[in-house]
Amino acid sequence: MNLHELFDTPIDKPLSNVNHVALTYAQLHTLGAQGASAFYFLDLEKLRDNYHRLRQAFVSAYENSQIAYSFKTNYAPVIGRHLKDLGCWAEVVSAMEYHIATEVLGFAPDHVVVNGPLHEPDFIEKILLDGTNFNADAWYLLDMIGQISQRHPHRQFQIGIRLTYPIAEGGFSRFGISSDAESLQRLSEWQASHRNCRIRGLHSHFSNSSRSLVSFADRINGLLAASDILFPTAPPDFINIGGGFFGEMPQCLASQYAQTPDFSAYAQQIGSTMRARFGASSGVTLMLEPGTALIANAMVFACKVIEVKHVEGKTLALVNGSNHNINHKWAGEALPVQLISQHPQAGNAEFDIVGNTCIEKDVLRLGVQGNVAAGDYLVFQYMGGYTNVLKQPFIHPCQPIYCWQDKQLRIAKRQENITDILATYVL
Ligand SMILES: Cc1ncc(COP(=O)(O)O)c(C=O)c1O
Repeated sequence: MNLHELFDTPIDKPLSNVNHVALTYAQLHTLGAQGASAFYFLDLEKLRDNYHRLRQAFVSAYENSQIAYSFKTNYAPVIGRHLKDLGCWAEVVSAMEYHIATEVLGFAPDHVVVNGPLHEPDFIEKILLDGTNFNADAWYLLDMIGQISQRHPHRQFQIGIRLTYPIAEGGFSRFGISSDAESLQRLSEWQASHRNCRIRGLHSHFSNSSRSLVSFADRINGLLAASDILFPTAPPDFINIGGGFFGEMPQCLASQYAQTPDFSAYAQQIGSTMRARFGASSGVTLMLEPGTALIANAMVFACKVIEVKHVEGKTLALVNGSNHNINHKWAGEALPVQLISQHPQAGNAEFDIVGNTCIEKDVLRLGVQGNVAAGDYLVFQYMGGYTNVLKQPFIHPCQPIYCWQDKQLRIAKRQENITDILATYVL
């Protein structure tokens, strides 16, 4: 089947009045009958709703806010294309992601933010000449930029700097240039000696602090403290707070965290600090780079129960999916999963979900409540981030992604096959 080919059999709209995507057994069965009974399902209407709610929250708190979607979280082209149509920018961290954003999806280079720790000189030269929004992560990149600007003395370049500094709740990042006094002084000197390249903004992103408001208070304060030193006479063009926001999620997942702020709480926390520093209608753009917050609850992973067996007092449901499909970037949370039974039965039995690889540790979830039977579906929610993009072709190729958009069901990624997997090997 071709990408985006329309199905012959449309399904009814998935339920949208919940904070995740909910499918009935009949819908799962219809989708499963298309060829692969394990698949990702993406609700683009949910994605659109997430984007509008996040944007509205931030624009109300600080008008000059701009979202750039983090492609690494899920670079399925259908997602980037949909967000582009809504006015979202792209945040990319490699030449591959830059290509997808600009060449495949047509994002204008000045609507692309390029981050990332490791880049080749040719790529940096290209993106600077393209006029993209590059945030330099390290001194070696600033050296590279210095050489490029010398080679193009008649061009005027603009860059941002990614900074790292201590923040609350264990926040430490190995990425970015340290924001201590000595490094900021060195940055000021770098600026003074590079006349055709202007540092015009500051960026940070932390993925190992919590996603709490306290953490975000430190993130924005750290950027503004450095901004005061690096931009003593006129404010920067932008402050980029990175990603790391929670999205709306099922209650059984939310209850596992100390705090799950909603979009308005994040926006108030960050927006009020920006307003206090730069004024309500300032020219300083507040950039955000959400991945998880936009996409996590818009996609589920559905797999079918192939057999239920009983071993040493445990009930094991073997499914045609794996930990590799679902289990990236989690820190021990019990992942939210729904048992969608073909023939629902009352009772409070408990079972573990085990995967389709030969790895003993391939257990998708322990201690799920319900009476499970072969033929049932298990639907993992909050699966939009870091799942299909990190799925290895270990033992089984990756499953398809079906998506719901404009009252139509489409294929966003077909089932991978052996030819796909062997394409890069010499046979
Ligand atoms: C620089 C940068 N921005 C944004 C993100 C997106 O983070 P999240 O999915 O937590 O919103 C990441 C993810 O690692 C990142 O490295």
